[in-house]
Amino acid sequence: MAGDESIVTIDGPAGSGKTTVARNVAQRLGFRFLDTGAMYRAAALAALDRGVSLDPLDAAGAVSALRAADLSLAEDGAVTLGGASVEDRIRGPEVTRAVSAVAAVPEVRRQLTELQRRFAARAHPGLVAEGRDMATVVFPCASHRFYLDASVAERARRRVEELRQHGGEAPGIEAMIALIRARDEKDAGREAAPLCIGRGVRVIDTTALALDEVVERILAELGARQ
Ligand code: DC
Repeated sequence: MAGDESIVTIDGPAGSGKTTVARNVAQRLGFRFLDTGAMYRAAALAALDRGVSLDPLDAAGAVSALRAADLSLAEDGAVTLGGASVEDRIRGPEVTRAVSAVAAVPEVRRQLTELQRRFAARAHPGLVAEGRDMATVVFPCASHRFYLDASVAERARRRVEELRQHGGEAPGIEAMIALIRARDEKDAGREAAPLCIGRGVRVIDTTALALDEVVERILAELGARQ
C-alpha cells in the first residue's frame, strides 16, 4: 500500500458534500480519486439485477450476486460490473433504497475493502478516498483523515438540487429529510463498519460553507501538516 502521507480520507453522511469535495481535492493534489459509495451502489445493483430479496435481506444471495457480477475498478476509479461501466445505473432511487441493506453485509464489505486497498496500492502519487469507513476501517493509517458533516436540512436541500440539476425527479425537502434520516440511521446503526467519526479525525461542518471553501480548508490543513 502507498505510504500514509499519500492517502487522504473523507468520510461523512449522505449529502455532506464529500464526493464533490474529495474529487476536487484529488484534482488539486494530482491524486487519484475513489468514490467507495459507488462500489456499494454497484453491489446493490448486482443484487437487484439478480432478483435477490432485500427485505428481508438475503445476505448470502447478495454475496453470490457480487461474486458473479465481477465488480472491479478501472484505472480512473470508475466502478465496472463485468467490465462495463455502471455509473449511469447506480444513482437512481431503486439502488439508493437497496444500498444500505447490501452495505451492511460483512462479506460484501470485506470484498470491497480488499478492492479499495488494492486500488490504493497502485494509486500514484496518492489517493483521496471518500466513503463512510475510510478513516475507521479501510485506511486507518492515513495521515490526513476528514469527516464532513452538515445539518440534515442542508443535506436534503443539496440532494434535491443535485437531482434537479441532473434532470431527475426530486422529492420535496420534507420527504428528502425523511429519506436521509432513514439512511443515516441504517448506515450508523449497522454492526459492520458503521458510519462514525474515528479518533483523531478532523471534523468539518459544511452547513454554512460553499463546497469550494471546504476544499480550500482541507488543502490548507494538508499544507500545514506537511
Ligand atoms: O455516498 P453514497 O450515498 O453514494 O453511498 C451509498 C451507500 O453506500 C450509503 O448508504 C452507505 C454505503 N457506503 C458504505 O457503507 N461504506 C462506504 N465506504 C461508502 C458507502
